[in-house]
Amino acid sequence: MAKITYIEHSGTKHEVDVDEGMTVMEGARDNNIPGIEADCGGACACSTCHVYVDEKWVDRLPAPDPMEEDMLDFAWQPDPKRSRLTCQIKVTEDLDGLVVQMPEKQI
Ligand code: FES
Repeated sequence: MAKITYIEHSGTKHEVDVDEGMTVMEGARDNNIPGIEADCGGACACSTCHVYVDEKWVDRLPAPDPMEEDMLDFAWQPDPKRSRLTCQIKVTEDLDGLVVQMPEKQI
């Protein structure tokens, strides 16, 4: 179980517990948190699960694979350092305290 904070573009915060083995996207979806659409259901084929990872967490997450990096090119205003696709981030205990912020919109 990891506590993850999702911050909407408006600044509204949602702090939820997400089970290990789920993805950060599934944690948002299952808790009805707005701002992550996940149109492709987690197949790394849509980029609508895009977030900006809090600066402090950027280097603590496993690096994105080439497929995620390619798909991030299609996200809304990607940040080369902080942008990630939440469907590609598996929740582990090490992610306890993770903070992510949603973009202004998903494409
Ligand atoms: Fe489509 Fe993540 S849900 S790329």
